[in-house]
Amino acid sequence: MENILSLKNITKLYPGVKALNNFSIDFRPGEVHALLGENGAGKSTLIKVISGAVAPDEGEIVFKGNSYKKMTPAISRKEGIEVIYQEFNLVDTLSAAENICLGEKHGRFVDFAYMEKKAADIFRQFHIDIDPGTPVERLSTAHKQIVEISKAISKNCDLLIMDEPSAPLTVNEVGAMFEIVRALKAKGITIIYISHRMDEIFNIADRVTVMRDGEFVETLDVDKTDRNQLIRLMVGRELSGNYPQPTKPSGEELFRIENVYGNGDEDVSFTLHRGEILGLAGLVGAGRTELARLLYGADKMEKGRLYLEGQEIHISNTSDAIREGIGLIPEDRKEQGCFLEQTIEWNIAFNTIKQFSRQGFVNDKKVEAAAQKYQDILRIKTPSIQQLVKNLSGGNQQKVVIAKTLAAQSKVIIFDEPTRGIDVGAKQEIYELMCSLAEEGIGIIMISSDMEELLGMSQRILVMAEGRIQGELERSEFNQETVLKYASVG
Ligand SMILES: Nc1ncnc2c1ncn2[C@@H]1O[C@H](COP(=O)(O)OP(=O)(O)OP(=O)(O)O)[C@@H](O)[C@H]1O
Ligand SMILES: [Mg+2]
Repeated sequence: MENILSLKNITKLYPGVKALNNFSIDFRPGEVHALLGENGAGKSTLIKVISGAVAPDEGEIVFKGNSYKKMTPAISRKEGIEVIYQEFNLVDTLSAAENICLGEKHGRFVDFAYMEKKAADIFRQFHIDIDPGTPVERLSTAHKQIVEISKAISKNCDLLIMDEPSAPLTVNEVGAMFEIVRALKAKGITIIYISHRMDEIFNIADRVTVMRDGEFVETLDVDKTDRNQLIRLMVGRELSGNYPQPTKPSGEELFRIENVYGNGDEDVSFTLHRGEILGLAGLVGAGRTELARLLYGADKMEKGRLYLEGQEIHISNTSDAIREGIGLIPEDRKEQGCFLEQTIEWNIAFNTIKQFSRQGFVNDKKVEAAAQKYQDILRIKTPSIQQLVKNLSGGNQQKVVIAKTLAAQSKVIIFDEPTRGIDVGAKQEIYELMCSLAEEGIGIIMISSDMEELLGMSQRILVMAEGRIQGELERSEFNQETVLKYASVG
């Protein structure tokens, strides 16, 4: 068998969008084949066509020599196709182990011991300590993702599709995941791998297919191409790849945090200056997102004081935070970031509706103008700002969350993993945006697990571990080893 899977002239239309346009591609048995393309290029749609979650309007799918007009989820699973979707597909109230074994049958009884052992075995491969009995809703985003991956690899499949599996993971977990991927590949399993992190593609993939605007651009051997060529094919232009730097921050105090406790964080104190980009480094579980949620009023502070522009402020919920001018772009866009069943426009205006209304009447024109402005700035790819957010590609949903926070005119903005799932072109735009916000005097706290980005963008870095700040680095002292040294305290 030459190819395990071929798609021939696949077209998939959505209102106003050709998500796939006469698209053909081949996958060889046992290869790791990466898909690369900007947000909205059609990657997720392509894999949904393969898994049967979406039926194409035209074209043919040939899997293991059999031809299909369309797949169905039942056929694809029976034929040995497993998918790790970009959005979580877990049952929140079930335990990690139950999620992993969902759909398996072992006679008449639910065999908890078997399920927990199976889950524990896979978690061990990740070198990660998750109790298999924990309900998924209590797990962090990273751990949910690991459960999601574990669920797929625990099945016997011939084709494993991974749609941005690494997005919520940090270096160590990605490393463990790659070990697993290599082992599966050694067993002859074909892997389709989607990621916006270019280094991962060079690390794990044999071949890479670039797509743009729903069209096939080129399939290349990974060892015969390089980063610049791929970016050029994907974006259609050169990118500088430099991190823009705001002109030196004033050193004037903007936001002071004193002895904050809560959410597992202990005694956190620091000062953010006007126009500064302050990086927060740390491993998963270091307490960075927890801190962000305390400052934004999403979780309750047990103790501590906050001062904004010299005045003490009291934040007991998110409305307080938004009113005081503190914005958060959360890491988990689907659960906290935006309302998927609402339009882009509605989402962007949500925090700011007061700004646009008089005596209870909303000024539609102003709302529309604001939404339009941020759609342009962030290049949110959609036929209309009236589009429901759930219909946007993953990366474009992330941009809506950013737009929503920007529209609220915050003085301090906390970016929690702002470029996760964002394509290289849009990443550059977000960096430039952060930079111009800083130039306007806004203070930015940036949480990122992408070390290169954190070192590139921050003026100062605080490193957290075990809920405390363990170290502080000025730009002149930046280096990865020092950050990791502080991050692994304890
Ligand atoms: N259910 C839907 N209704 C309308 N349009 C849709 C729907 N699903 C996807 N689209 C559109 O199809 C295009 C391709 O989306 P897709 O999710 O495949 O992109 P992607 O390459 O996976 O992007 P990302 O990197 O952001 O995840 C986008 O313009 C998207 O808005
Ligand atoms: Mg996608």
